[in-house]
Amino acid sequence: MNIKKEVFGHCPNGEKVFLYTLINPKGISVKITNYGAIITSIEMADKNGKKENVVLGFPCLDDYISTDYLSNYPYFGAVCGRYCNRIGGGKLTIEGVGYQLAINNGPNHLHGGLTGFDKKVWAPKTIEMPDYVGLELKYRSVHLEENYPGNLDVSVLYKLTHKNELQIEYKAIADRTTVVNLTNHTYFNLNGGKENIFNHQLQINSKKRTVNDETLIPTGEIADVTNTPFDFSSVKYVGKDIAALPDGYDLNYVLGNTEKKMVQAAKLSEVNSGRSISVFTNEPGIQLYTGYWIPSLKNQFGSYSGLALETQHFPDTPNHPEFPTTLLSPGETYKSKTIFLFETN
Ligand code: BGC
Repeated sequence: MNIKKEVFGHCPNGEKVFLYTLINPKGISVKITNYGAIITSIEMADKNGKKENVVLGFPCLDDYISTDYLSNYPYFGAVCGRYCNRIGGGKLTIEGVGYQLAINNGPNHLHGGLTGFDKKVWAPKTIEMPDYVGLELKYRSVHLEENYPGNLDVSVLYKLTHKNELQIEYKAIADRTTVVNLTNHTYFNLNGGKENIFNHQLQINSKKRTVNDETLIPTGEIADVTNTPFDFSSVKYVGKDIAALPDGYDLNYVLGNTEKKMVQAAKLSEVNSGRSISVFTNEPGIQLYTGYWIPSLKNQFGSYSGLALETQHFPDTPNHPEFPTTLLSPGETYKSKTIFLFETN
């Protein structure tokens, strides 16, 4: 058996949710719950063969729905949608009709609103194939849920391959024109959480970033990162220039893969454990968030305890027609793919 299923907990309405453990022949195991499509744990060996969890997460549902956690909510491991990251002022206009989305982050809309995809119960289906084990999760977001127009049928397929990749395939169709931008909000800490992520090394294959205003909404300017603290185009310690940024890194890098081809966006590594994770995507952007706002909970976590590499379309695209579009029309299929490749040297 390469997929295990157990009860993860009960939602406030009594609905039971499950935890699935996908295991590959090389000993990587990934735990995913159908609550929020959340990755709760990824265990991989270090250079001495010691297996540890390399992502931030909790062992049971109660921790994910506790007031403590939600009052300072960092979206550990969740799928964010219908629109991940921010929409300025929550203002969305589609085909001339305005929609006011929830304001849940300063003056802006963040990660799909008050009850985004990260808090929904998804319909699960396990898959065993010769070269991977998988979990498919489906969810129907109804017309005007969180005030987004159109019924949207979403699926997220997690595949743990025999080649030590976790592939994430997102698909969505709508019955009227809407916006879609999906990501996974896993925070990595490759040394199993023994210290913060300053000693991790990071390379991001980009020389450009979308410039933000003070509320983290893009101004529209695309700036070169050369010779700035934002430059990760060559391998650099995450902590090297972080002191220049009071809240650490929280920005979108422009990947320039205009043809929606898979490209390597980033590689994160940690020398003591020998572990690394490479990120591939067909998205035009990737958010680097170094977790300044992660709360301390149960004597764990806290600022800079993990970092997220979120593949995505650019923040606030609905209000920036010059950015690659996030509109989805009836008859089209939204498709997005992310691959995390795990390696130990
Ligand atoms: C955003 C951060 C936010 C974090 C947790 C990231 O995707 O860019 O600004 O604090 O998610 O919500």
